[in-house]
Amino acid sequence: MPFDPELGLSRYLAGEDRYDKARYRRCGRSGLKLPLISLGLWQNFGDDRPLATSRAILRRAFDLGITHFDLANNYGPPYGSAEINFGRIFAEDFAPYRDELVISTKAGYDMWAGPYGEWGSRKYVLASLDQSLRRMGLECVDIFYSHRFDPDTPLEETMGALDTAVRQGKARYVGISSYGPRRTEEAATLLRDLGTPLLIHQPSYSMINRWIEEELLDVLAREGIGAIVFSPLGQGLLTDKYLHGIPDDSRVRRGLHFSETLVTDENISRVRALSEVAARRGQSLAQLAIAWVLRDERVTSALLGASSVAQLEQNVAALERLDFDPSELEEIDRYAVEGGINIWEQSSSA
Ligand SMILES: NC(=O)c1ccc[n+]([C@@H]2O[C@H](COP(=O)([O-])OP(=O)(O)OC[C@H]3O[C@@H](n4cnc5c(N)ncnc54)[C@H](OP(=O)(O)O)[C@@H]3O)[C@@H](O)[C@H]2O)c1
Repeated sequence: MPFDPELGLSRYLAGEDRYDKARYRRCGRSGLKLPLISLGLWQNFGDDRPLATSRAILRRAFDLGITHFDLANNYGPPYGSAEINFGRIFAEDFAPYRDELVISTKAGYDMWAGPYGEWGSRKYVLASLDQSLRRMGLECVDIFYSHRFDPDTPLEETMGALDTAVRQGKARYVGISSYGPRRTEEAATLLRDLGTPLLIHQPSYSMINRWIEEELLDVLAREGIGAIVFSPLGQGLLTDKYLHGIPDDSRVRRGLHFSETLVTDENISRVRALSEVAARRGQSLAQLAIAWVLRDERVTSALLGASSVAQLEQNVAALERLDFDPSELEEIDRYAVEGGINIWEQSSSA
């Protein structure tokens, strides 16, 4: 890579073979395709992490054909810093590739002080998008999400704000995250009537958090909405990370949204059994966990996180073995049971 004295670092040139092995799925009944694996910037891209590591993960992801980066207003820490850091890396590395990328952000959770800094009001949602665009240095995002269902704001108002974002040219598509099946149907109807189809739903889903199988996936298929499932590795629990205690370099120890209380003996014994299934398939547990969420064609993309390039590379190699035979799925079902890790349930059960 050529050194750029103005940047003080080597200039990024995307790998020419980046699309050779990459695979994409159509997002619902839309024209947009997403990579089977997408990269989320919830953690590992804030000011608490070295910018060089964040940059290396993003560069490697794009070189591996990952064309979708997912953000939200309050990703960090501190809030907003993931968007600022992404904006800087985007300007320095990815600007020439803007139209090869699908960049998303969201508003809904706690962002700024006072009554207009969270939930689903038009006031908050549209102001937050303006702030996100400024932080990232973008004219528009590809997907703008309502991050959670707001029980106190009329859904018409929140969906109306998403529609406005598209009409203002600040978002190309809209999505919702962690909405339950009924609220998803209502949101889809409202948006259809407004003329801005609901592109995508972003729910949590993994081998130990299977709530979307009950009803949501049927609703999405019927409505033609894509599904990008987040935390398919259960924030790291469905990897070999916690098999021998809690390491210092872990999300649990960093104390950000992943409590030690979720690493229960029961969960670890299931994880151990699942890692044996993975080994028989010639995969790591992380690779099995990713292949498993993608076994259902209604799932457009697995949205995962990575704290290093090595993790990312291991995870992308999951795509080499996506097939399952029925006996494997049966065995997995014995251990792939509710693990009490769905910390986003309040929104989806509202
Ligand atoms: N819409 C929402 O409300 C919502 C909520 C949560 C997440 N999301 C989205 O989903 C994205 C992914 O969420 P997530 O980070 O929780 O997903 P995840 O993929 O389940 O967990 C990622 C974490 O697992 C560990 N890990 C990953 N690969 C590994 C490997 N091969 N071996 C060992 N450990 C590995 C790393 O943790 P360590 O740091 O411990 O190494 C990594 O940070 C977020 O960035 C965000 O975009 C959305």
